[in-house]
Amino acid sequence: MTRHLITSAIPYINGIKHLGNLVGSQLPADLYARYLRGRGNEVLFLCGTDEHGTPAELAAAKAGKPVAEYCAEMWEVQWELSQGFRLSFDHYGRSSSAQNHRLTQHFAGRLDTAGLIEEVTEKQVYSNADGRFLPDRYVEGTCPNCGYERARGDQCENCTKQLDPTDLIDARSAISGSTDLEVRETKHLHLRQSAMMDQLDSWISSKSDWPILTTSIAKKWLHDGDGLQDRGITRDLDWGVPVKKGDDDWPGMEDKVFYVWFDAPIEYISCAQEWVDAGKGDNWERWWRTDKGAEDVTYTQFMGKDNVPFHTLSFPATILGSGEPWKLVDYIKSFNYLNYDGGQFSTSQGRGVFMDQALEILPADYWRWWLLSHAPENSDSEFTWDNFQTSVNKDLADVLGNFVSRITKFCRSKFGEAVPGGGAYGAAEQALIDDLTVKTRAYEAHMDAMEIRKAAAALRAIWVAGNEYLQSAAPWSTFKEDPDSAAAQVRLGLNLIRFYAVLSAPFIPDAAATMLAAMNSNDDSWPDDVPGALNALTGEHAFSVPDVLFAKITDDQREDWQARFAGTRD
Ligand code: 2FM
Ligand code: ZN
Repeated sequence: MTRHLITSAIPYINGIKHLGNLVGSQLPADLYARYLRGRGNEVLFLCGTDEHGTPAELAAAKAGKPVAEYCAEMWEVQWELSQGFRLSFDHYGRSSSAQNHRLTQHFAGRLDTAGLIEEVTEKQVYSNADGRFLPDRYVEGTCPNCGYERARGDQCENCTKQLDPTDLIDARSAISGSTDLEVRETKHLHLRQSAMMDQLDSWISSKSDWPILTTSIAKKWLHDGDGLQDRGITRDLDWGVPVKKGDDDWPGMEDKVFYVWFDAPIEYISCAQEWVDAGKGDNWERWWRTDKGAEDVTYTQFMGKDNVPFHTLSFPATILGSGEPWKLVDYIKSFNYLNYDGGQFSTSQGRGVFMDQALEILPADYWRWWLLSHAPENSDSEFTWDNFQTSVNKDLADVLGNFVSRITKFCRSKFGEAVPGGGAYGAAEQALIDDLTVKTRAYEAHMDAMEIRKAAAALRAIWVAGNEYLQSAAPWSTFKEDPDSAAAQVRLGLNLIRFYAVLSAPFIPDAAATMLAAMNSNDDSWPDDVPGALNALTGEHAFSVPDVLFAKITDDQREDWQARFAGTRD
């Protein structure tokens, strides 16, 4: 048994996430966590909400709520949705927790002691009407390059030119529209990442087994242009972790908070503390401190490609720079983007399917199967309703669901609702068992390597093999001449249902639970011994015929949904 720490990128608090967000981190992390637990490992699987920053403040203002209240409510919403999708977190934390405040301030103090923090005076746009400094992207105006009137202070999205807010013509606040803006001096803390470039470079270079997507992004930031840049880690905002050095005040920083990307990854650690403080665990340090037991933990992070620079460079800079024995990540599984029906998912335009809407129309397993079996691993992938319908109807309804239905109903009609004990497995049954042994080992190899699409294909091949066996053994024909052989065929079929339940649980946990319950079994142990697993249910063992596992998606449903999710949510 090995110990595995798994974290998924923590989703921003503002707004419900779409299926592209889900498949880019939380869902594959859950697949892996469930698989490792299924194989008997000790797993700590953590996630939570990322609550700080201007977008959270603005979303709260739009909702007419104090930001703390808004975040508490949205945490609840996101938590409920994660449960709807059966994401099996051991704890779902909050980056606004007291634990994360303390630990973020602790890291800042350690980095300062190590000489890795620099105080820098910057010029920034201040809005008198809003009574606040404006982050660059909240200053809008006319692009000096192309004349586009809604260019943002960091970049013009029309001509892509990188801008400074002071470049804009007729600049205004994107929050209030006010043009009463001025440039003021303000002091900020910078993390001297440049001083850690060599250390980070050799650490990344040692990760030859990481996905190319992960290392190529890290290397680009390390080596493009002038190399790794220092990074501002404070902001002039109210909502966030107040800037302190450990427990001490930081002179000149009284009205500032840490930048959301500084405190968010620290929540991975704080979340383990929250897990203990919530009474769910008794020792967080054995997961996070290499001087206190975490040296034999394998730590895997899951995230979309836009998060990679922060996890390969900035967060490791925080950890390494502290000079303390914190656990560093062992493997970063990153994802490309999932597109939606000929375009992109868009939160602002409500384009695509969002987590709440998905669960309103179909149970979690349908989505889990499609999303995982089409995970954007090696390139961006695309959700289309045609593909979704085909995949659900073929893989889930025709192959798996139909198998379970046929064998249980046939058994009930000819032998009753108990495993028939007669006959013995013959050559065809042995050939299937041998084939499934090979296929199961292949499935495990893909899961171990986090090759998610390949793992889904391997699992599908396992289901197909059972179906093909049933089709050629045809117990409904055998039964007429040789009821004993038919009994053995049906017995293998019923054992296959339990076997499929265990192997499929990481992908489709609800259907797996239904299959196991129908087989009247609570033996969900992993089939290390495939022949043993396929002989587990013996004569007289009672079972029941489950309800339809997967309903087919009709053409009418497909057309309705395609029209409904084309845009303009709200
Ligand atoms: O992209 C996002 O949704 C970010 N909130 C992820 C943060 S992950 C980590 F650093 F906490
Ligand atoms: Zn422009």
